[in-house]
Amino acid sequence: MNRRHFLMTGSALAVLPRTGFAAPPFLLRAEPVTAQILPEGDGVTDMLGFNGSTPGPELRARQGDTLRVTFENGIDQDSAVHWHGIRLNNAMDGVPGMTQPPVQPDTRFDYAFEVPDAGTYWYHSHNRSWEQVARGLYGPLIIEEETPPDVDHDITVMIDDWRLTETGEQMGGYENLHDWSHAGRMGNFARAVFDEAVTLRTGDRVRLRLINVATARVFPIEVTGVEGKIVALDGMPLTEPEDFGQITLAPAQRMDIIADVTAQDGVRFNFMTRQGPYDLGIIAVAENNPAPRTAAIAPLAPNRIVSPDIENAVALDLRMEGGAMSSVATREAIWLFNGQSGMPDDPYYTFERGQTARITLHNDTRFAHGIHLHGHHFHEVQTDGSLGHYRDTTLIAPDETRDILCVFDNPGKWLMHCHMLGHQAAGMKTWIKVL
Ligand code: C2O
Ligand code: CU
Repeated sequence: MNRRHFLMTGSALAVLPRTGFAAPPFLLRAEPVTAQILPEGDGVTDMLGFNGSTPGPELRARQGDTLRVTFENGIDQDSAVHWHGIRLNNAMDGVPGMTQPPVQPDTRFDYAFEVPDAGTYWYHSHNRSWEQVARGLYGPLIIEEETPPDVDHDITVMIDDWRLTETGEQMGGYENLHDWSHAGRMGNFARAVFDEAVTLRTGDRVRLRLINVATARVFPIEVTGVEGKIVALDGMPLTEPEDFGQITLAPAQRMDIIADVTAQDGVRFNFMTRQGPYDLGIIAVAENNPAPRTAAIAPLAPNRIVSPDIENAVALDLRMEGGAMSSVATREAIWLFNGQSGMPDDPYYTFERGQTARITLHNDTRFAHGIHLHGHHFHEVQTDGSLGHYRDTTLIAPDETRDILCVFDNPGKWLMHCHMLGHQAAGMKTWIKVL
């Protein structure tokens, strides 16, 4: 299978224009855009985007900076922008009805917040996100280290899928209950979006920032043509860089790789489907770097992390329930957390500032869920009890149980929800309060 094939059904694709432009202080204007998602020459797609393109422009700031973004809503629905993975001031979190009023059509909202952590993040609409993100309202947010690692190229790779007709129209059906009660609304066409003007040389050292921006699809991915290490997950540096074979990225998850280019025929991103590898995109390679780097790939400088107080952690449970083939799901309450579907009036839990919690996540459903906590990162606890990766979104397979340890040190009201956005829409969400 190659990039000219739809998933499941049959036909086509090529180049998304990256025409977006933003200068600090940034202006991000949500508006209708046209995108060449299918290959050049095939139909174009009516999407939503920021500053003329989807994905929106890559916003960059330096760790510790105050990022200022004026959001202007040029679409015909309310909207708001969430800065996914940033441990920011609660009032700037972009959740309408919770941290701010919805931004109505033809109005603006000014965001300004400090960015404490370096790494790979993203921004996306948080109003009717199951529809607005599917229609293109997202973009990368890169926070640079004070001393960035020594690489020849720093490339953001956003992976998405779309549900398109043969001629490139979006098929709609954003609120299809069959999709919502199963794995979510999957696209039939997938690709990696990156700056196609870049050509690498063999021997070049590259930083690849992978972001899964799909609303529901978990991507198992193989990256070929490079040799290197995973250096960060969900923005946060790994203490020890790790080897990668097949990569799994749940919706909203990110992975930074630093690697040396080895293949003359390109750096390839293959989506490993049951029918075989599906070509998501190839970064071109030509010529050789005459002076390749020889230093080992080093860990990135750590972000400031408060260690969990494991001894005194409050123990909580979060049970995912519902969905197709479940006896508790109803049409009105498809997905539930601890028996509750949709936003409860009272928080799931109120934490003292700085309190550590051990939350046992139980997936009592037939589907995978990517659980995201706003305003914080948390440690995944490994089966042997040791601290695993430090993330903002954790993927839980059907029947899986996993503990996470989180230091709730960011005051405010924060959402916790499944990032399969149809699951969130159909009830899998709650909120916590930090005093
Ligand atoms: Cu990226 Cu509440 O989500
Ligand atoms: Cu889910």
